[in-house]
Amino acid sequence: MNNPKRYLVTAALPYANGPVHIGHLAGCYLPADIYVRYLRAQKKDVKFIGGSDEHGVPITIRAMKEGITPQQVVDRYHAIIKESMKQMGISFDIYSRTSNKVHHDTASAFFKKLYDDGLFEEKESEQYFDEKANTFLADRYITGTCPVCGNPNAYGDQCEKCGSSLSPEQLINPRSALSDAVPVKRKTKHWYFPLQNYEPWLKEWIIDGHKEWKNNVYGQCKSWLDSGLQSRAMTRDSNWGINVPLPGAEGKVLYVWFDAPIGYISATKELTDQWADYWCQADTQLVHFIGKDNIVFHCIIFPAMLKAHGGFVLPDNVPANEFLNIEGDKVSTSRNWAVWVHEYIKDFPGCEDVLRYVLCANAPETKDNDFTWKDFQDRNNSELVSIFGNFVNRSWVLMHKLCGGKVPKLHEDILDEKDKALVEAIRQTKTKVEGLLEEYKFRDALFEVIDLSRTGNKYMQEKEPWIVAKQLAENPAAQKSIDNCMHLCLQLTANLAILINPFLPDTAKKMLGMMKVVDKILDWENAGSVKLLSVGYSLREPQLLFRKIEDAEIAAQVEKLKAGLIKPNESKVEETQPQTSIPIAIGSKPEIVYDDFAKIDLKVGTIVSAEKVEKADKLLKLQIELGTETRTIVSGIALHYQPEAIIGKQVVVVANLAPRKMRGIESNGMILMAEDKDGKLHFVSPENMINAGSSVS
Ligand code: MF3
Ligand code: ZN
Repeated sequence: MNNPKRYLVTAALPYANGPVHIGHLAGCYLPADIYVRYLRAQKKDVKFIGGSDEHGVPITIRAMKEGITPQQVVDRYHAIIKESMKQMGISFDIYSRTSNKVHHDTASAFFKKLYDDGLFEEKESEQYFDEKANTFLADRYITGTCPVCGNPNAYGDQCEKCGSSLSPEQLINPRSALSDAVPVKRKTKHWYFPLQNYEPWLKEWIIDGHKEWKNNVYGQCKSWLDSGLQSRAMTRDSNWGINVPLPGAEGKVLYVWFDAPIGYISATKELTDQWADYWCQADTQLVHFIGKDNIVFHCIIFPAMLKAHGGFVLPDNVPANEFLNIEGDKVSTSRNWAVWVHEYIKDFPGCEDVLRYVLCANAPETKDNDFTWKDFQDRNNSELVSIFGNFVNRSWVLMHKLCGGKVPKLHEDILDEKDKALVEAIRQTKTKVEGLLEEYKFRDALFEVIDLSRTGNKYMQEKEPWIVAKQLAENPAAQKSIDNCMHLCLQLTANLAILINPFLPDTAKKMLGMMKVVDKILDWENAGSVKLLSVGYSLREPQLLFRKIEDAEIAAQVEKLKAGLIKPNESKVEETQPQTSIPIAIGSKPEIVYDDFAKIDLKVGTIVSAEKVEKADKLLKLQIELGTETRTIVSGIALHYQPEAIIGKQVVVVANLAPRKMRGIESNGMILMAEDKDGKLHFVSPENMINAGSSVS
C-alpha cells in the first residue's frame, strides 16, 4: 500500500496449552517485532497486536489429563507465554487473551451478524461420540489400527507410521484417545460457512491482486483456490469456547479458528477506543505475521469472514515463514524436541539479543531452515563478537586513548577516498535496509547491518590510527588524520545503533548508554547521517556488547535436548490443534538432500494380478512384474480400484522398502499413489508404456 495512514500488525495468537519454543519466535513473533520497531522508529502510527489463543480441543484434553479446568490450563500458559514474549523483547502494544469478555462479546456479535444475514448453512451430520467422556471426538482423538500398514496407534486423521491420511471410519478397532471407549456415531447440527461462495472474489483478490505476496504464501493460496473451496463448519460440540449465540445451541461453541482471528479485533478494542480507525479505515495497512501452517486461515478463511461481515479492512500482506527445524529434525512438542524460550532465557541470561540475532539470520523465510547449537555459537562468536562487537569496542577504546574520550573534529579539507567511501557506505546501507524491511526480507536486512560493521573494521584496519599515533612526535599534523578516522568510526557506531535497533533492541540500548545520548537518536530519519554525535562531546567507557559462548555451554544444550527427547512409543497424542477437514496443501516435510532421495529405489512395474484380501476391505494383494522378478505387494487401494480393472496398468514401485506383513501376507514394496482433494487415490504412472523394471529418478 502506498503511504498508509496507520499500520495494524498482528502476530498469530499462540495456543495457551504449552510454552513457546524458538520455532514460534522465528516463525512470526520476531519478524513481526522487527517490522514494528522499524515502523515506530519511523514514527509511523502503528499498533502491534498479540494474545493467547485459549480455546480449542487440545486445551480441554490437557485439562482432562491433568485433572484441572481448562481455565486453569490457559491461565498457566498464558502467563508463561506472555512473560517469554516480554523477556525476548517482543514489543506488543497489547498481549491479550481470547478467554476474556471483550473477546467473547466481539466474536459472538460477529457470528450473530453473519447468521442474521443468512450467510451460514445449517447441516446435520453424524460424528463420533465418546459415551464415557461424554463428548464428541475430533478425528485426532480417535485411534486405531491403520488399514494400510497395520500400525496399531494410528490417528483418525493420519497414520504417522506410513503417512497415509485417514478418516476415522477407516481405522480398524477405533478407540477414543480420551477414555479408550469405543466411539459411537451421533447426530449433531452445525453451522457451516460456504467458502465456495467467496471463491471468485478470493481469486480476484489474491491471485490477481496480491502477486507481491511471498512465493510460499501465494503458492499455497493458489493451490487451495485451484482445488476448490468447500463449506466449513464454524461450530463444534464442546463446552469450552464461545457459546454459539443462538437458541437451541446448548453444548455448542464457535470453532476455534472462527473465534481466534477475531481475537485480533477484540484485542485492539481492549487497547484503544480508536480501534475502529485501525480496523475499518481503508488507509490502514493490516499485516498478519504467521507460520506457514496458518496460511489458509489468514489468507482465505478469515478474509472471507471479514468480507462477509463487511466494514473491515483486509490484510495487505501475510508474510508467513516456513518452519524452523532443530538439529536436523522437525520440532515436535509431544516428543519434546524443541528449544523452549523460557528455558533459553534461564540458561543464557542477558543473551536475548543473541537468540534474536541467530533466529533472524537463520529465519525460515523462504524454506524450512535448521537451528543447530553449533551454528548458534558460531554466529555469536564470529559475527556478533568478532565483527559487530569488535568494531564498536575498538572504536571506543581508541577514542579514549587517542582523543581523550571526546568526539574529535572532522577536518573536511583532508578527507581522503577511504573516508568518503565510508560515508557513502553508511548512507547506502540505510537505503538498502529500508528497502529490504519493506519487502519483509529480514535476514538480508540484518546482513546489511552486519556488513556495515564489517566495512567499519576494514576501514579502521586500513587507517591504523594506533600506528599513526606513534608518529605524532615527528609529525604533529597527523593528529588530524587520527581525528577524522575516529570521528567517522564514532558516527558509524551511532548509525549502527539506529540500524540494529529493530533487530537487537537491548544492544542498541547499551550503545546509547556508551554514547550518553537519549532514545531520540534512534529515530530512523537519523540513519545515514554522519553528524549524529557533536564534536567535543564526551563519551562513556566502552561496554561489552556480546560475550563469547564457550564449547561447554553448547555441549550442555545439545545434551539437554537429547536427554529430554521422548521416544515415539512413549509419546502422547500430539497436543497441537487437530486439522480435520482441510489438509495443508504444500511442503509439510522437512528439506532433504539428494543423497536421501537417492536411497530410494523406484522402479516401473506392471500389475499382472490383483485380488481382494479377506477381511480387509481396504487392501488389494497385487503381483507386480518388475522385469527380473515378480513381487507381491499389498496395497490399501481396494476402495478406489476394482481388482480386474487394474491388470496391465503400470505403476511406480518403491522396490527397496523392507518387507512387511499385512494380514498375514508379506508385502515386498509399495506403490506410489497420488491423493486428490477428495481423498481419492490415483496411480502415478509413466506417460507411455515402458519396460517393466525401468528405474525412476
Ligand atoms: N493458535 C494458532 C496456532 O498456534 C494461531 C491462531 S492465529 C489466530 O497455530 F489468528 F487465529 F489468532
Ligand atoms: Zn499406516
